[in-house]
Amino acid sequence: MNGPSGPFVMARSPQPVIVRRSALLSVGESVSLSGILLRGLALSACAWLGLTLPTRLQACSADDIPVLTGKYSKGAHGQEPTQEALVALGRKIFFDPSLSASGRQACASCHSPAHGFGPPNALPVQPGGLRMDGFGLRATPSLRYQHGPQAFTEHYIDLMDNNGQDSGPAGGRTWDGRVNQAREQALMPLLDAQEMANHGLSDIVARLRRAPYAAEFDALLSLPGTHILDDEEGVISWMLTAIEFYEQSPEDFHPFSSKYDDYLRGRAQLSAPEKRGFQIFNDPERGNCAKCHPSVTPSSTVIFPRFTDFEFAALGVPRNPRIPANRDAAFFDLGLCGPVRHDLSDHPEYCGMFRAPTLRNVAVRRSFFHNGVFHSLREVLSFYATRDTDPQRWYGRGQPRYNDLPARHHGNVNQEPPFKPLPNGQPRLSPRDIDDLQAFLNTLTDRDLMSQPSPTKRLMVRPAPGHP
Ligand code: HEC
Ligand code: HEC
Repeated sequence: MNGPSGPFVMARSPQPVIVRRSALLSVGESVSLSGILLRGLALSACAWLGLTLPTRLQACSADDIPVLTGKYSKGAHGQEPTQEALVALGRKIFFDPSLSASGRQACASCHSPAHGFGPPNALPVQPGGLRMDGFGLRATPSLRYQHGPQAFTEHYIDLMDNNGQDSGPAGGRTWDGRVNQAREQALMPLLDAQEMANHGLSDIVARLRRAPYAAEFDALLSLPGTHILDDEEGVISWMLTAIEFYEQSPEDFHPFSSKYDDYLRGRAQLSAPEKRGFQIFNDPERGNCAKCHPSVTPSSTVIFPRFTDFEFAALGVPRNPRIPANRDAAFFDLGLCGPVRHDLSDHPEYCGMFRAPTLRNVAVRRSFFHNGVFHSLREVLSFYATRDTDPQRWYGRGQPRYNDLPARHHGNVNQEPPFKPLPNGQPRLSPRDIDDLQAFLNTLTDRDLMSQPSPTKRLMVRPAPGHP
């Protein structure tokens, strides 16, 4: 997704500015020290809310509890719309293909509910655009467990790791963390020519005015005696706000209903292979997975980990020739240092770095890593095991290593376990270790995704009327 970033819609006031609800957020806020985030505490706030307020909207980071203020803060009859009403509206918007220029693509087309709001198929990148024949650069991430990542920072203090030292860049949304807030993010696919392909805000508003839920939108959000649908700025603001509310709804986006969650609740046992996989996952000398995909939270009162620390790393993932932009041998998607993200292009030390994704529901994915180059978990795990002991397998015979990164940036590629070979030159993970790791990763699948494809039926995206 190459869409614009930055708060360019929210700049004009008055808007339904979304501010922090301090009572709920006191823990999260107290840890944001002049842009430096302390992981342990920030995550505790999230998980604590997830645990004790299952029916409420979640707020996990300093900028993420939606509270409405300003001109549009009141809806019909001067009442603030309820969270439930906004979530219901946001869900309709998320599943509405009539908001795309093709009439065939909703948010849910790429972020499929039956696949943990990740891609519905094994394509590395999803088609989109006016004729549904455009392709962006990156694999569609799962939207589960994305509620409130920390805002992007270049200087992240990781309490669980690195002895509380600066661990470098972390946080933000998308593979390169270039946007912080869900409502800012939601505008990007709507305007991206390779995705929903609207020409501008007026185009989006015109489509929403014709949507089946337009009357509901108007009734819920208009001030007495006015029609919100007459106000373009108001429509865009509320639309993005409704999507943001929806993306924080626990039942769709963070049910914490996997076998692993039940294990943490003391209601399930791990099998012998799952247990072995869990040990390898956590062992700093073997899988070392938990270093970047934490399997526990640092606090004794917080239970549910998200399996990402939102930190950035360069893994040297192989180039994917199936991505159209890669036909140009001089083109590289370098993540944090560009070209999609623009503000860190003078930081060569960040080139090749992408944000660690959550591993929850990873077993239902069929394309992996930012460029979707792999199509099975086994391939991913084998890559971790043998990237540096058998590089030909991954980059081709006689080919240079790390072939999706110009040689001058190869020093950025992570060399810790599991990549670092054993002193005898052997991989740290055996084929059996890989089986066990896979067994463990299977325990991270939410209950509703175990019985496919039935959950999809309710939520399938069909072309808008008048579109083939
Ligand atoms: C054509 C497929 C496609 C469509 C349609 C689409 N997305 Fe995405 N989405 C992506 C891709 C690809 C990314 C990763 C972009 C990047 O890293 O640059 C992404 C990223 C995201 C993220 C950030 C996730 C993270 O890991 O931080 C959110 C949130 C999101 N999309 C929500 C939406 C919403 C809301 C809509 C509809 C308004 C939507 N998407 C429509 C493909 C799509
Ligand atoms: C140094 C940090 C680090 C370590 C250690 C690490 N990962 Fe990752 N992981 C990442 C990053 C960063 C990405 C995304 C890289 C990209 O797409 O370029 C990733 C991606 C993945 C993916 C792909 C998920 C998706 O949605 O596409 C899987 C699966 C995965 N890791 C599993 C593991 C396992 C299992 C281990 C241990 C054997 C492990 N990781 C160790 C940082 C790490």
